[in-house]
Amino acid sequence: MLAQTYPGIDGFLGFRGSLMLDVVFLAMFAVLPLLAISIYLVKRRRFDLHKKLQLALGILLMIAIVTFEIDIRLNDWTQRAIASPYFSADAKWSCPVGVALIIHLLFAVPTTLLWIVVTVRALRNYPRPPQPGTHSAAHKFWGWLAVIEMCGTALTGWIFYYLAFIAT
Ligand code: HEM
Repeated sequence: MLAQTYPGIDGFLGFRGSLMLDVVFLAMFAVLPLLAISIYLVKRRRFDLHKKLQLALGILLMIAIVTFEIDIRLNDWTQRAIASPYFSADAKWSCPVGVALIIHLLFAVPTTLLWIVVTVRALRNYPRPPQPGTHSAAHKFWGWLAVIEMCGTALTGWIFYYLAFIAT
C-alpha cells in the first residue's frame, strides 16, 4: 500500500502531524515545567533569573508561533485529519476536531496577547534589576492569569492534536 502523502513537511512523532505541529506539541511539554521553575525562582527571590527565563520563554514562543502559523496557513492541515474518526470535511467546525480547535484557539489567542502585555508592562514598570514594588499586585494578578491561560492552551492543544492527528 502506498503511504499517504500530505502537504508540507511531515513531523517526527510518527503520527499524522506536520513538522511544526509536532515541534509545538512537544515544546508545550517543556514550556510548562520551565514556567513552574520560573515561579519557583520568584519564591526564592531570584527575580533577575525569573525575568531572564520569562524573556527567553517569550522569544522562543514567538519564534514557535510565527513558524507554526506559516506552516498551518501554507499547508492545509485538514488533509492530515481526514483519517481521524473525529473529523468530517463537510462539518469542519462542528465535528469534534473543529470544536476542539475552536476551544483551543479561545485559549491560545488571548494567551498570546496576555503574554505580550504582561511582559511589556513588567519591563516598563519594574526597576532594573527587578524588585517587588508598586507594580507587584498587578503583575501577580495578570501573571497568574497568563500562567493559567498557558496551561489551558497546552491542554486544549494536546487534545486537538490527539483528535486530529493521532486517533484512527
Ligand atoms: C509573561 C511573562 C511573565 C509571567 C507569566 C510572569 C509571571 C509571574 C507570576 C505568576 C508571579 C507571581 C509569583 C508569586 O505568586 O509569588 C511573578 C512575580 C514576579 N515577576 Fe513575573 N512574569 C512574567 C514576566 C516578568 C518580567 C519580564 C519581569 C521583570 C521585568 C518580572 C518580574 C517579576 C517580579 C519582580 C516578581 C516578584 C513578585 C512581586 O513583584 O512582588 N516578571 N511573575
